[in-house]
Amino acid sequence: MHLKLKIAPVLVLVGFMGSGKSTAGRLLAERLGWSFLDLDEEIERRAGKAVTQIFEQEGESRFRQLEHEALVEQLQLSRNGRPRVLAVGGGAFVEARNQQQLEMGGISIWLDCPVETLWERVSRESHRPLAQRREDFERLYRERLPHYQRADFTLPAGAAEPLEVVEAILKLPLF
Ligand code: S3P
Repeated sequence: MHLKLKIAPVLVLVGFMGSGKSTAGRLLAERLGWSFLDLDEEIERRAGKAVTQIFEQEGESRFRQLEHEALVEQLQLSRNGRPRVLAVGGGAFVEARNQQQLEMGGISIWLDCPVETLWERVSRESHRPLAQRREDFERLYRERLPHYQRADFTLPAGAAEPLEVVEAILKLPLF
């Protein structure tokens, strides 16, 4: 595919837990021939332990610090000009310091899904520290909505299959 990309070539998928950022991000990068990075995986690699362990042993604020550092580092690497797709954890875009970084260094795309769908997806898995009780999960979702709404683009992704999300991203006025 011949792309006429004229703006910063870092696409950042943001959104709540379970919105499909990593799956769609991987597929999107594959379609574009770009590299892909899942920020949570990078945090785990740097810390030498799983996100759940970081939460349990060091607490959420330490995780947020590691998340911020990894994001800054990755955006700096991206300035070298290699186009990339990044998927960031559900809390990353909520922090003002991260939003500022992303404002300057990337194009954010919010995968917008209804909270019922998100809960249905994540409650089948047990590893997310912030997805243990439905009530807390829904409250957090409501608190975070205004932050996600500040993304550069919003895509309704609740009913869509990952490949449909990728197609919708490729139709954004970016390429
Ligand atoms: C979090 C979401 C997780 C992970 C961590 C915290 C959050 O990523 O970063 O458990 O605060 O919403 P996913 O959105 O990929 O599940």
